[in-house]
Amino acid sequence: MVHPLKDKVVLDLGIGTGCLAFRSLELSPPKLLVGIDFSATGLCVAKNISKQSKFQQYECDMILGDLEKLPIANRSVDAIISQATLNLLPDKCGALREISRIAKSGARIGISDAFRTSNKSSDDESWEQCIAGAITVSEFSQLCLSVGLFIAGQVDLTQQVRMLVADKKWDWPEFLEHNMDYRAFLLVRS
Ligand SMILES: C[S@@+](CC[C@H](N)C(=O)[O-])C[C@H]1O[C@@H](n2cnc3c(N)ncnc32)[C@H](O)[C@@H]1O
Repeated sequence: MVHPLKDKVVLDLGIGTGCLAFRSLELSPPKLLVGIDFSATGLCVAKNISKQSKFQQYECDMILGDLEKLPIANRSVDAIISQATLNLLPDKCGALREISRIAKSGARIGISDAFRTSNKSSDDESWEQCIAGAITVSEFSQLCLSVGLFIAGQVDLTQQVRMLVADKKWDWPEFLEHNMDYRAFLLVRS
């Protein structure tokens, strides 16, 4: 959704150990890849992978930081990617406002995660399984619009995730139990 990345500064929000970021590097190397996460352990793994021979010619920077208060200058980023992280953020509006603040005008932002299809059913839903923190697609759309991020495209991956869980290739029974959607959104900064 955010390619091509050539000559661009790209941020992976919640990079973890970097599986999305390094796949992205392989497909279309940017000028600079910056990974942000508040897990020092995850960043350490990502940093080590970035030093492997197939990635060491690329410029990578790993930053320890909170996604609700990004240590990044205003309007300085060309593209942003984030996978399976939005649901873990208690203040989604604050996090999206931060994305809007750091993104250049016209920047492309790819966000994927699970979305709720009905109201929260109980207070003991799991945050770790990305259920308790999930919102609906409609709530997400309204939050994006409120901070100047426009939805330019989306891909519904629900059936693919359902099949992986049903075939036991993804250990995530909660996804089926809570009748979740899985979507990838392309947002554009106004
Ligand atoms: C489920 S993992 C996804 C990692 C990676 N994006 C991937 O797809 O493999 C979520 C990541 O978000 C990070 N995270 C969650 N809340 C955060 C916050 N407030 N600030 C920074 N990182 C956060 C976690 O440490 C974790 O690495």
